[in-house]
Parts: sequence; C-alpha cells; structure tokens
Amino acid sequence: MTTRCDIMLFGALGDLAQRKLFPAFYQLEKAGLLADGSRILALARRELDTEGVRQQIRKRLEQHVKPEEFDPSVADKFLQRVEYQLLDFNNQDGFEALNTWRAGQSNQLIVYLASPPSMYGVVARNLSAVSCCTEKTRVVVEKPIGHDLESSRVINDELGEVYKENQLFRIDHYLGKETVQNLIALRFANNLFASQWDQNHISHVEITVAESVGIEGRWGYFDKAGQIRDMVQNHMLQLLCLIAMDPPSDLSADSIRDEKVKVLKALRTMTPDMMDTYVVRGQYTAGASNGKPVPGYLGEDDANKRSDTETFVALKVEIDNWRWSGVPFYIRTGKRLPEKLSQIIIHFKPAPHYIFDPDQRHLANNKLIIRLQPDEGMSLKILTKDQGLHKGMRLRQGPLELTFSEAFETERIPDAYERLLWEIMKGNQYLFVRRDEVEHAWRWVDRIVQNWNDGGDPPKRYAAGSWGPVASIAMITRDGRSWYEDA
Ligand code: BG6
Repeated sequence: MTTRCDIMLFGALGDLAQRKLFPAFYQLEKAGLLADGSRILALARRELDTEGVRQQIRKRLEQHVKPEEFDPSVADKFLQRVEYQLLDFNNQDGFEALNTWRAGQSNQLIVYLASPPSMYGVVARNLSAVSCCTEKTRVVVEKPIGHDLESSRVINDELGEVYKENQLFRIDHYLGKETVQNLIALRFANNLFASQWDQNHISHVEITVAESVGIEGRWGYFDKAGQIRDMVQNHMLQLLCLIAMDPPSDLSADSIRDEKVKVLKALRTMTPDMMDTYVVRGQYTAGASNGKPVPGYLGEDDANKRSDTETFVALKVEIDNWRWSGVPFYIRTGKRLPEKLSQIIIHFKPAPHYIFDPDQRHLANNKLIIRLQPDEGMSLKILTKDQGLHKGMRLRQGPLELTFSEAFETERIPDAYERLLWEIMKGNQYLFVRRDEVEHAWRWVDRIVQNWNDGGDPPKRYAAGSWGPVASIAMITRDGRSWYEDA
C-alpha cells in the first residue's frame, strides 16, 4: 500500500528535475507505485501554464526514458498529476498559493528543493511564514550542501530552524543505486565475508569512480567545486563508509548512519607533509573521448583559461581504527577518463605460507571485485589448479562470477532516483545523509583543499581519454601495488 503524497517540486523546470526526477516519477507510475490521488506541484519562475509545463515534461520524458520503456498512456496518466505554479522563491507573498493548493488535503506533504542550495534557507522560511508545513512534512535537499564545513553549517542551520533532522532527506544519489545498497547485503548477510573483513585478511581496497564525460556545460558550478567537492566529499566517501563501517545493529537509518559517522571520524587527516604521497590532483587537457577529439578543461565553453580546478583526484586514505589499521583505501575519480566505470576491489592478503611455483607468487591473493556500473555484479577471483596433465600444480586465477542481470533475470535495474523517491514517500531515511555525516566529510575534505590553497602544486595534466596523471600510478606503485585492470 503506497502513501498518497503531495509533492511540491521547487526548481521543476531545472535540469535535475527534467532529466532525473520526472523520469523517475514516470517509472514509479509505470510500476504502480504512485498512489491514486498523489499530486505534484511544479514550481518555477517561468511564465508558463500547467498545459505548457506538461508538454515540456512529456518531451523530456520521451528523451530520457528508454523508448522500450516509454508508454504514452502511462505518461498521460502521470502528467495528469502535475500542476504548475509560477513562483518567485524569494517572495513570501506568492507562497500563499501553496496553501490554496493544499487546502483540504490530507496527503503526506513532501517539499523537494531541486533548486540551488543558496535558496534552501529562504524557501524554508517562506514556507514556514505561510504555515505551509507541519512536523510531518518531509523535506528533500540535493547536494552540494555548501562548499566547505562552514557554509554547510549555515545551510544546515537555516534548514534546522524550520525542520527537525527526522524531516530532512539529504540526497546522495549514489546511495540509491542498486549495487551500492547491495554492499550492505553483501557485507552483513554473508558471514563468509564478515569474518574476513579486516586488517587481518585484507591488504588494501581500491575504489574507482571514472566518468568519460567532461563537465558538460556546468563550468560555472564545477570550477568552484572541482572533483574533490563534486565527487569525493559525497559519493566517494559514502562508498568508502559502506565498505569500512562496522556492522550496524539493525537496518534503521540511525544505526547505519552512526556506523558511517564513526568511519568518517577515523579518517586520518591529510597533513601538509602527506600531500606529496597521499594526494594527486589532475586536470584534463585536450584528448579523445569515445574516439572523438575533445577539448581540455581550459578549452571548454565559458572556461577561465587560468583555472587550477581539479577534474581528477586520487587519494590514499588511512582509517585509524582497529579494523583498518594499516589497510590503505586507494580512491580515484575523474572526468574524461577512458570509460564510465565504478568499481570497488577488495584485495585479500595472500595465504600465510606459500607452497607453489615461486614465479606465480604474485597471483596468490584473492580479490573481490564489486562492479557498481556498468554491468552490475561481482566477481571473486580465486585460485585453482590449471587444467591438464602437463600443467602440474600451476595455479590459475579464475572468477566466481555473479552478474545480476544474468543471475536474477532482472528486467531492469531501477535508477537511483526511483529508489530514493520511493523511500521518501515511505518516510525511510536510511538512504539519506545525516547532518553530522555531511559535516565530518567536509572537515576532512577541507583540510586537503586548505593544503592545496596553502601553496600546493597545481594540478598535474592528463590527456582526456587517459586514466589520469601518471602521478596517480606512481602513488600506488610506491606501495608495491597497481590499480586493478581486468585482463
Ligand atoms: C553528480 C556530480 O553528483 O554525480 C556529477 O555532480 C557526476 O559531476 C555525477 O557526473 C555522476 O553520477 P553517476 O550516477 O552518473 O555516476
């Protein structure tokens, strides 16, 4: 049974709403997960009427929903739920109209702020001034929550003046990805792994989130953020937390978030003397993407030719606690890398006593490869004897393979936003980020940025279409390791 919801969508004509949110709502409609009577009030500043907005959304649905998944009758049904209200977010007077829309409704109210974070405070205050929300209202906010610890506190304080923490749903869309959620199942449903998941058995962990796209016309935002704020402060640290956290006592939002916060608190601070060996930042130059020439970061439209903003970051992260002492987490993420690929590799330690051919010693550690995208699944590399009489006891590393789409005949894996919207409608916060998580992540990231600002080297260049600066390879090679490459 799904709850009847009224969703006020601020920023309804913006890129996020049009590219991600409306297609996700459409999919929920198609799956029968939008309760009859649920409504969406699209809010923006453009002079349009409901019919015009419905047409615009329909066009974007046709673009962003795969043709084989697009059903015009579902789209029609969904669009009937959408009404449009022109609204100047800064002007309290217009907010009375929201009460008119709500009059006599008992639907669960969800306020979705798909607007720039600088607007969160004013919208919250204006909603409160017209008494539009109650203690039951759920409020959804998108990243970035600020650009450092201080600015994130300002935003969180502004929201906190009007809403309680249990009303706030801070989105990190990585937490809505099927495979990211699956990390929790993998770790805490399989005793096999639970007993191996520490410094006694794991030598190191790699997390790669690579994108082939550049900054896609978002220079204004991206140049102020850089890859460390855009990807590391949120998505990368969330992945790291899910791999490193202790088992929560249950699946409740706070049990999971308490454990993630403990990891964030245990991250070793990057002091200036660590910057040369633990941190690499890069910026792409002209190169090729998918076989086509592409400009460098400084050659993108609207670029400021002198920017030192990083489009690539590689870090060696130490977690100072009992479980992970001495186990580095190598993480890297960048734009304009050769492919879109997100994966986590757990490198297990070799057997304590080795009895096979000395020249095969390098093979002798198990690896668990968790593919987040594309080709969602996992693969455990184990060692077996090579087949055949003449091979003697030669070893061979082979995969125990689990590709979700094949193993479970999954029809389609839902997009992250579908799951997140669904959980918001159910009022479940476990896939959303708590205030202290955001702040601990900023505290750690701020120190790196401060070291860069205090005279660190400028970003190292890398050609678009390569795996980032050579320095990122050197960083891991110094420890006698290499970034995992699937043969
Ligand atoms: C967003 C970043 O949060 O995540 C973008 O702002 C990035 O720069 C995107 O491209 C990556 O998300 P996904 O789901 O495509 O891996």
